[in-house]
Amino acid sequence: MNIPKHIAIIVDGNGRWAKKKGMPRSYGHVKGCKNLENICEYIKEVGVKYLTIYAFSTENWKRSKDEVDTLMNIFRNYLKKCKKIAKKDNIRIKVIGDISKFSPDIIRAIEDVEEYSKDFTELNFNIALNYGGRDEIIRAIKKMCGKLLDNSMKLEDISEESFSSFLDTYPSPDPDLMIRTSGEKRLSNFLPWQLTYAEFYFTDVMWPDFSKEDLIEAIEEFGRRKRRFGGVKEDKDE
Ligand code: IPE
Ligand code: IPE
Ligand code: MG
Repeated sequence: MNIPKHIAIIVDGNGRWAKKKGMPRSYGHVKGCKNLENICEYIKEVGVKYLTIYAFSTENWKRSKDEVDTLMNIFRNYLKKCKKIAKKDNIRIKVIGDISKFSPDIIRAIEDVEEYSKDFTELNFNIALNYGGRDEIIRAIKKMCGKLLDNSMKLEDISEESFSSFLDTYPSPDPDLMIRTSGEKRLSNFLPWQLTYAEFYFTDVMWPDFSKEDLIEAIEEFGRRKRRFGGVKEDKDE
């Protein structure tokens, strides 16, 4: 099987999944978070080296205070667990997005788990929290302009490669496969720079139900696609 090196997932459909069961949206988020733990294990088992999960967008603050508060509590608990998960499975955890908007305890938990897991090597797990692709690009431009202004970078040094190094995802390679659950077929501000040549896979399955079999189906479909990267010869992307 041709295994992607980097899978990016928009874990969508928690709210609708819960509603269908006559439960509050928060129940869907709890189950969705539990499923993330399972999928992380499967991803590692199949040999994927990078995983990026969209967990909270810059636009998700628009939701009700109740729902945002629930999500913050889920992140709190999950981040606490993350150290154990990282150690058990040799996973390096990195949060992408503008974390300055979170409460101080969440920021501390993020910094703590990133520092703790920085030498783990089996899987690089990026969690996108308060992440927006446009926001990431603007923040990267600001960082780069700072270097231009203090003369540590020259205008002619700007290239796709050097610009990428200012993005939150650096040094992860670009994703090869982007999966979105729940039947929605849009990016919703997820990794617009990095997904330029990714294969897109959409499934109607709601995130809390997304299983190991669903993951394997997505990877098999990825393996059947002929990637060309703008050329004319099939590139098997070994
Ligand atoms: C995805 O599920 C999780 C987050 C955005 C945090 P949703 O909450 O978007 O669920 P639906 O799309 O409303 O069903
Ligand atoms: C994208 O899902 C964000 C996450 C999964 C975290 P949304 O549910 O927020 O996106 P839209 O509103 O359907 O585009
Ligand atoms: Mg949604």
